[in-house]
Amino acid sequence: MCVSEVAEGKSMKRKIVVAVTGASGAIYASLLLKKLVQLQNQIAEVGVVMSDNAKDVWRFELDNDDYTKLPFKFYAKNDFMAPFASGSAKFDTMIVVPCSMGTLGRIAGGISDDLITRAADVVLKERRKLILVARDTPINLIHIRNMATVTEAGGIICPAIPSYYSKPQTIEELAMTVVNRVIDLAGLQNESYEWKGI
Ligand SMILES: Cc1cc2nc3c(=O)[nH]c(=O)nc-3n(C[C@H](O)[C@H](O)[C@H](O)COP(=O)(O)O)c2cc1C
Repeated sequence: MCVSEVAEGKSMKRKIVVAVTGASGAIYASLLLKKLVQLQNQIAEVGVVMSDNAKDVWRFELDNDDYTKLPFKFYAKNDFMAPFASGSAKFDTMIVVPCSMGTLGRIAGGISDDLITRAADVVLKERRKLILVARDTPINLIHIRNMATVTEAGGIICPAIPSYYSKPQTIEELAMTVVNRVIDLAGLQNESYEWKGI
């Protein structure tokens, strides 16, 4: 499915899994989920799953539990009955945001021991789109090898590294430079800063 097909209303609306893990950067998950609310005309369904650490880090970093207010269906981390635990549910894109090194490693190792890693395994086996907003610094050789493995399997590593050339003025604007790249990678239509050259 390409963006122009969505624009022309020719194709099905998108079915997206958003997984949130316990890496630093809950702001990326928060902003992405809010953005998906705005883009709902392009989306049939968003399923969300959070690790335990994701909930703790979100509360610690953002001082809220605002994910509970989102209009999306949330699935328990061990709910293997969730639709996107099977390829037949045809979720076309999965975004792990932020993606901890632990979850990255489990995905790279094919260890489908919870809904997040099972759903990622499904997306890869079905040759659909997996975007990992990986976050840690510095990174070691194990992380690098795991990123290479996921890339070789067809996944996209989109590190949680903001850009500065749009001259963001707030933390939210800075974090949106990452979120907008993720939205673009997911193939959703979105108005965002575009570098025009100098
Ligand atoms: C405040 C806080 C920040 C963390 N930041 C990171 C991080 O940036 N990257 C990372 O890989 N792990 C980070 N961790 C550690 C993960 O939460 C931990 O490895 C956990 O087992 C990840 O599990 P999950 O992937 O199931 O959420 C952080 C933990 C805390 C409490």
